[in-house]
Amino acid sequence: MDGRKPYIAGNWKMNLDRSHALDLIKTIKGRLGDGNDREVAIFAPSVYLADVSAVAQGSPLGIGAQNFHFESEGAYTGETSANMLREVGADRVLIGHSERRHIFREPNDWSGRKVRKALDEALLPILCVGEKLEERQANRTERLLRRQLDAGLCDVQPEEMRRVTIAYEPVWAIGTGEVATPEQAGEAHAFIRKWIHNKLGPEAAELTRILYGGSVKPDNIRGLLAIEDVDGALVGGASLKPDSFIPIIEFDQ
Ligand code: PGA
Repeated sequence: MDGRKPYIAGNWKMNLDRSHALDLIKTIKGRLGDGNDREVAIFAPSVYLADVSAVAQGSPLGIGAQNFHFESEGAYTGETSANMLREVGADRVLIGHSERRHIFREPNDWSGRKVRKALDEALLPILCVGEKLEERQANRTERLLRRQLDAGLCDVQPEEMRRVTIAYEPVWAIGTGEVATPEQAGEAHAFIRKWIHNKLGPEAAELTRILYGGSVKPDNIRGLLAIEDVDGALVGGASLKPDSFIPIIEFDQ
């Protein structure tokens, strides 16, 4: 990990009722410590953000949204602006999650506009990238990652990478119980870091955290974090229960 602080992020997706959501935040908050040696954040459904961030207040737990729109305001029915997220206590946001890209058909170039807007509005973005099974089978993983990184980071300055996190999430590993092998994850993470090095310079490459996502569980978190260039995890299903999420955030205990 080379001095990069491990970052464990929970992506609740469209799950949990309000009372379970608040209970889970209380439990996580109680187990966090001072947050000096790891960063932990929850990406909650937008309608819960105000309540969830009120509970998290006073702790190092980060609270983020799962999506937003890159325009500041206007006739965008159903959408939420970066400023609205800030107003309800979010300090970060996921961008380009594979479910946004594939189910909701978000175009590649939106991720670049969203990363720019997030940085301008003081939200910490996690840009998600990752290949589908057919792309991996056709040997197109690197080409796909390059295209997503080119689009997502097209308008970012090297010094801004301090505030940007990348999540590598192979689509075939999300919610399937299938995890990338250490070799597959290692190769993809090294490729992403090399891309940052080439486009944004050695310093940006050194400090940018690259998370792995896709069926992360208590029994595989240690192995994943031992892989060079893996600086943390974006956790879906296992972030919904204390029994599975607490051991992940306490991966070294
Ligand atoms: P999963 O989801 O951990 O349930 O595979 C990961 C994600 O989509 O971020």
